[in-house]
Amino acid sequence: MKPPMNRKEFLTALGAGSVTLGTLKAATDSKSIAVPSTNSPAPLDRLLNLDDVEALARTMMPPSVYEYVASGAADEITLRWNREKYREIRLQQQVLRDLSGLDCSTTLLGQKMNTPILLAPTAAHRLSHPEGELATARGAGAFGATMVLSSGSNTGIEDVMAVASHPVWFQLYVFKDRGLCRALIERVQNAGTKAICVTVDSPLDGARNRQMRTPFTLPPGLGYPHYVGITEPGSVQTVDLVLPANLMWRDIEWMRSFMKVPMLLKGVMNPDDADTGIKAGAEGIIVSNHGGRCLDTQPATIEALPRVVDAVAGRVPVIVDGGIRRGTDVVKAIALGAAAVQIGRPYVYGLASRGAEGVTHVLKILRQELLMAMSLLGCPTIASINRSVLWK
Ligand code: FNR
Ligand code: LAC
Repeated sequence: MKPPMNRKEFLTALGAGSVTLGTLKAATDSKSIAVPSTNSPAPLDRLLNLDDVEALARTMMPPSVYEYVASGAADEITLRWNREKYREIRLQQQVLRDLSGLDCSTTLLGQKMNTPILLAPTAAHRLSHPEGELATARGAGAFGATMVLSSGSNTGIEDVMAVASHPVWFQLYVFKDRGLCRALIERVQNAGTKAICVTVDSPLDGARNRQMRTPFTLPPGLGYPHYVGITEPGSVQTVDLVLPANLMWRDIEWMRSFMKVPMLLKGVMNPDDADTGIKAGAEGIIVSNHGGRCLDTQPATIEALPRVVDAVAGRVPVIVDGGIRRGTDVVKAIALGAAAVQIGRPYVYGLASRGAEGVTHVLKILRQELLMAMSLLGCPTIASINRSVLWK
């Protein structure tokens, strides 16, 4: 039997062609990877919150895939802070307000959204569910949420757009080969992406020790269709070609010069970087520490958010992700200046539990909790949420 692949090898198996259900099943049979079955009678209505969804997903995901999704970098201090810092923020209720027009819809970059919640880009959905990104797109569409498709998806954007009933955004890793990078930007624009989020926080991976301890064995032929031409299957060195170690501000200006859709920068924690980014042409800033997967011991995103919002000074919308698990977390992010939030792991757990339905279910839980929090806080609309809901 082949020795288990580590993460580097996993990432460098990119470009090996797209995986078929058959290969996933064959791999399951040979125990190289257990892909969860889709017909498990997961009792969705008994999953009351996002932690319940994770608990179920954990029983259904191959341990190595669960570790890939759940883990963070090094000692996972930042991963923990991302959640803890939300819990430390206390809310202040306002009673006897007019809630007759209760509505959590909003507009972001000209796009009407029924909640201020997007699906953050996460790689390799076919590891969590045989239908992978197609199920995610269907689940997001059924709810009416925007999915940000990862560069590292196992499904090409054209196939995702074919099943999407709601706008899709694309997350870009800038390849070292700028010609291939430009070709990918043009490809995703032609496919109909409504925005491109350039991830700027990952010149390389963090020290993901938990992941290294439970390495992957990849199903044969698992593909990364956006990395075509970038990676050579089986070559460890090519991972460098995917992660943009040489990405600099001038590249942001260069991409802006020909990009036809709004460009957002994902992975900004430093207010100075937000300012430089906007001057380089960014039309949105995503405050993110990559879900605690890159630089450990940097602050929680909810701590960085107010500083970035100050530096941005209303020039572009600010989105935040990392550790959002409750409707009250969404309210806190908006009170501190976010226009919208993204969730990462929670919807992957929904996907792993019940495919498209699971993704929709996670979004519904969060919307329900958001509406409850808004009602209890006396805020009928997203625009009415401000710092007055925070306990001083
Ligand atoms: C990610 N994230 C990520 N970000 C990105 O820009 N491109 C990517 O391909 C991925 N892939 C990825 C895979 C997995 C399994 C996870 C958990 C995360 C980071 C992601 O977009 C987001 O920043 C975090 O997931 C947000 O934190 P929470 O909601 O997971 O706590
Ligand atoms: C991750 C990469 C793919 O966080 O961004 O796993």
